[in-house]
Order: sequence, then C-alpha cells, then structure tokens
Amino acid sequence: MIAIACDHAGIDLKPSVIEVLNELNLPYRDFGTFTHDSVDYPVYGEMAARAVASGECELGVILCGTGVGIGIAANKVAGVRCVICSDCYSALMAREHNNANMLAMGARVVGSEVAKMLTRTFLTASFNGERHARRVNQIMTLDAGGTLQK
Ligand code: RB5
Repeated sequence: MIAIACDHAGIDLKPSVIEVLNELNLPYRDFGTFTHDSVDYPVYGEMAARAVASGECELGVILCGTGVGIGIAANKVAGVRCVICSDCYSALMAREHNNANMLAMGARVVGSEVAKMLTRTFLTASFNGERHARRVNQIMTLDAGGTLQK
C-alpha cells in the first residue's frame, strides 16, 4: 500500500502519480486533499507520514507547490525519511542509500512527465543495505532523540 497526499498547490500533479501507481499495480490510499481549496500542507503531510510510520503503508508520495513544506512536515514524524527531490538520481539514491520511505515533489517545480519518472524510479528501487544500513541506523538514532559518536 502506498500513501499519497497533497495540498491545493500539489493537487494537479496527483493524477500523474496515480497513473504510475496503476501502471505498477500498486494499491494506494489517498489522504487528500481533493479540491483546489486552500489547505495547510502539514496536515496532509502528517496523515501520509503517519500511515508510513505505522506500517499501514510501505511508502508514500506527497505533493505541494515546492515539495518542501509537505516534505519537511512529513520528516517530523518519527520513522519517516522523506526525500524532497526533482531529479531522478536523487530519487534513486534516496531509496538505495538512504532507505527513504517517502518522496515529496513540487507541482510548481516539476512537470507531469518528470513527476512520473521520479515516482517510478522511487517506487521501483530498493535499499542496498550493507554499509548504508549503519548510516541509516544512525539517522534513526537521531530520529529517536539520541546522539552519535564519531
Ligand atoms: C502553498 O501556496 C505553498 O506554500 C505550499 O504548497 C508549499 O509549496 C510549501 O512548501
């Protein structure tokens, strides 16, 4: 199950994300918003992020005008590693090296074809583990309020 969410500024990109989810035969839960009425992106970022953090959804794709606000909000939920990106290399590395579990994109930043490519790249890549696992574990220590030793 994939969590998706957006604010009013991201909504026009949502059909592109859904197109890729359908193409990949991935079921999804859409946390809204569903209209162009102005809403607050942290609310929608949180709903999708909590679904990912709880394990209800394996991964999430979230959208706002820039991807920045909703991505920052999602990253405040413990257990979430959300990459805000507009290039496919970062989307791929975020999965392979950082085990990112959410992708945030901006509808005012990327067009529909780039968004589809980013979504496809993110959802079909997988974590490489090994040396990267130690570093992701360190991120999760910070996430839990801990500190790291050099
Ligand atoms: C809404 O106008 C806009 O601020 C929001 O979608 C997002 O870009 C914030 O980071």
